[in-house]
Amino acid sequence: MLAVAILAAGKGTRMKSTLPKVLQPLGGISLIERILTSCKAINPDRYLLIVGHQSTKIEKSLNHLSELEFIIQSPQNGTGHAIQQLLPILKGFKGDLLVLNGDVPLLKTSTIEKLLEKHRSIKAGVTLLSARHPNPEGYGRVFSNDSGVIYKIIEDKDCNQIERQNTLTNAGIYCFDWQQLSPILSKLSSNNSQNEIYLTDAVTQITKAIHLEVDDPNEVNGINNRLQMANCEKLLQKNLRDHWMQEGVTFIDPESCTLSEECNFGHDVVIEPQTHLRGSCEIGHKCRLGPGSLIQNSVLGENVTVIQSVLNDVKIKNHVTVGPFAHLRPGAEISNYCKIGNFVEIKKSVIGEMSNVSHLSYIGDSDLGRKVNIGAGTITANFDGINKHKTIIGDNSKTGANSALVAPITIGTNVTIGAGSTISKNVPNNALAIERGNQTVQENWVKKKNIQSE
Ligand code: UD1
Ligand code: CA
Repeated sequence: MLAVAILAAGKGTRMKSTLPKVLQPLGGISLIERILTSCKAINPDRYLLIVGHQSTKIEKSLNHLSELEFIIQSPQNGTGHAIQQLLPILKGFKGDLLVLNGDVPLLKTSTIEKLLEKHRSIKAGVTLLSARHPNPEGYGRVFSNDSGVIYKIIEDKDCNQIERQNTLTNAGIYCFDWQQLSPILSKLSSNNSQNEIYLTDAVTQITKAIHLEVDDPNEVNGINNRLQMANCEKLLQKNLRDHWMQEGVTFIDPESCTLSEECNFGHDVVIEPQTHLRGSCEIGHKCRLGPGSLIQNSVLGENVTVIQSVLNDVKIKNHVTVGPFAHLRPGAEISNYCKIGNFVEIKKSVIGEMSNVSHLSYIGDSDLGRKVNIGAGTITANFDGINKHKTIIGDNSKTGANSALVAPITIGTNVTIGAGSTISKNVPNNALAIERGNQTVQENWVKKKNIQSE
């Protein structure tokens, strides 16, 4: 039997945030979601989360995970005190208890598997992950003999000068034999500089306490403050970019770009400087993104160019150019061979094949056919102050510069709208619609004016 317990009750004081530490995002996903995903694949029999500080907020954010059992630790008197809360919950439980600190977000499932394997193969009382940190400040130091048996763990704050020089640190990831741990738990004291009950004190009281050193200490970086958070983000981003460069994506200036783990790229994609992809994005072959673009939760086909633009929740087919300075908002769907130009905003609209919206337009709640040409400054007036209304424009129609189309409205196929018109009535196929005051010209007006003023 295997139970997993994740420690997430602490205040995270050093973050100086109103958001609980484990809800802070890394690569767009909260620390706690990351930990939960890393141990879900090992299929534990019990899946326990210890919460305390702002527990309702944490529970709310995770209520989609029905298999999670929430255990309240109040007050929060340290990591050992947190695990003491499991005594009634795991009464009679026989098997291993995997304990994970909630603030170690880069841990891989394969490393957890190695830990379990080692623990079981040598029948240890407790096995923990250790790491050699070049700068071990803040971590508990692990002291062991040559065969990896631990004889003490001292927290950074409790170390003397000599102990502090030990660079072997405790990663905060443990596998305990629950039957050995449980009788020790209630006897732990808080006789230390923080007056807390330390889980690490239980480790040395267990027979056969061993450690397994991880290959890459960065994988078990703990996050206590924003500097460590930024460092983890940097590592995560580097890993993602390195991965995609190996898969055939070009980054012109890799360090200036960020990605999410839910991004997928075709081959020969070029990502220009200062370009950021968030949430789930599918980017087709030969797309060119950036410089200076933000793309979120969007699907782009092949050969799409996006320059200096913001795209959120949009679908774009193939051979489309977007920008510079376009804003495509949720529900924008752009078909093949379209051109979306500068200072154009499109929301919840379908743009048919080979249509152009090239300059200074707002297209909202609209359905445009094929080969439509939207003139510079055309606006769909979709909002009457209470409700949003639809604009429909048929194939091959054109709007003149500075047209306002007052929705709900249907413009037929092959229509021309005269420049500067405010169109509020439907226009049939093949018509010219124009709405404009007659132009008056007063000849020699300047001369007359001058005579009057003399
Ligand atoms: C802990 C370890 C330290 C290790 C480091 C690795 C102890 C005593 N120290 O120190 O040896 O090197 O992690 O990152 O365990 N928590 C609770 N309840 C509490 C206190 C904390 O659930 O009462 C949770 C926190 O929310 C956090 C985790 O336990 O997710 C670790 O707590 P933290 O205060 O960050 O411990 P460290 O000082 O980092
Ligand atoms: Ca920590």
